[in-house]
Amino acid sequence: MVQDKRCALITGITGQDGSYLAELLLARDYVVHGIIRRSASFNTDRIDHLYQDPHKAGTQLFLHYGDLSDANSLAATLRKVGPDEVYHLGAQSHVRVSFDLPIYTVDVDALGAMKLLEAVREYQQHTGRQVRYYQASSSEMFGDVQEVPQTEQTRLNPRSPYACAKVFAHFATINYREAYDLHASCGILFNHESERRGETFVTRKITRAVGRIKLGLQKKLYLGNLDARRDWGYAPDYVEAMWLMLQQDTPDDYVIASGRMISVREFADLSFAHLGLDAKDFIEIDPRYYRPTEVDQLQGDFSKAKRALGWEPKTTVEAMARLMVDHDLDLARREKTLRDAGHTLPAAVGHDQ
Ligand code: NAP
Ligand code: GDD
Repeated sequence: MVQDKRCALITGITGQDGSYLAELLLARDYVVHGIIRRSASFNTDRIDHLYQDPHKAGTQLFLHYGDLSDANSLAATLRKVGPDEVYHLGAQSHVRVSFDLPIYTVDVDALGAMKLLEAVREYQQHTGRQVRYYQASSSEMFGDVQEVPQTEQTRLNPRSPYACAKVFAHFATINYREAYDLHASCGILFNHESERRGETFVTRKITRAVGRIKLGLQKKLYLGNLDARRDWGYAPDYVEAMWLMLQQDTPDDYVIASGRMISVREFADLSFAHLGLDAKDFIEIDPRYYRPTEVDQLQGDFSKAKRALGWEPKTTVEAMARLMVDHDLDLARREKTLRDAGHTLPAAVGHDQ
């Protein structure tokens, strides 16, 4: 596909980050192609507001079926789309679930990245066109951290199948950069959340519960390890960093973080307090949510990204918690309206993990 506008391909476009990145790229006049999985139920909620009728002239968003377990679908989409930039965000991204589905997680998160890198390498070789590549690496790779804060140089001590798979994908990306001169960068992103965060990640599980408890739709919130500490940032700020990495002349790896760390307990306290509630009255511990091996603390040093990319976070964890709680209170209001009108609500929101 030859075109005058810049063209990007996003794996994981239906996820939290993919949806914000698609918005950012469309706002910068890119043509955006996304790979989506076939699923029995609709999985495009987060990008429905961006949908454009492909039959109309001037459409800039296109979706293609594909799967990270299917190398052919990745190579075929790449050939069809001819992107200038590839953002590889697709993954089985839940750490706790990776202990239940280790082989699937490695297949999708580690081998999936290798399949895409190979597709990009072959595409470049055959067409002579340069493709810039972004790998969604993770602070989870630091695992059992011995050094606080963590930088691009900190030793990786992965503590979950998810983290092991991400370490593989991280080093495969660096290897392809060195071996084939691929313009490939890794963003080592620390936890980032939003109103679009999946409901089984702890921040969203908490903010969903706060809204529902406030309106009497839920009585208790069951959580696991409240002492784990994370460096939480706001997803829309973080996708900007992904884009900046691919605008550099030289590819490199960057830590993207807020630089502050607070505990799950503290996040819950400030979220409940936003609606005048005391978290202690509602939280109960369920060991089901403990992990076989836990990552106790993560705190990133984003000074390289600040220096080289001019990037820094804009939204504090407190401001983000307020945005998420307000959004989820609104959602709870809509649920309550439905319940009061006699509709059955879906079973337990934030039900597992
Ligand atoms: P997310 O909301 O879970 O989105 C994951 C995306 O990957 C979804 O679009 C999902 O599709 C897609 N996907 C899953 N399995 C796939 C497969 N087999 N083939 C094709 N697509 C598949 O994750 P996120 O929070 O946006 O994170 C984006 C990326 O950054 C992930 O790689 C994650 O591991 C990494 N990361 C995230 C964070 C964070 O704190 N959010 C931090 C560091 C790194 P469906 O919608 O169909 O499920
Ligand atoms: N999910 C979940 N559910 N986590 C809980 C719960 C619970 O009920 N109770 C306590 N936690 C603790 C977890 O044990 C963990 O220490 C912390 O809350 C954060 O858990 P998650 O929100 O599930 O995120 P994560 O840190 O494991 O992984 C996320 O961040 C990584 C970057 O460091 C994911 O987005 C990964 O994809 C990402 O790579």
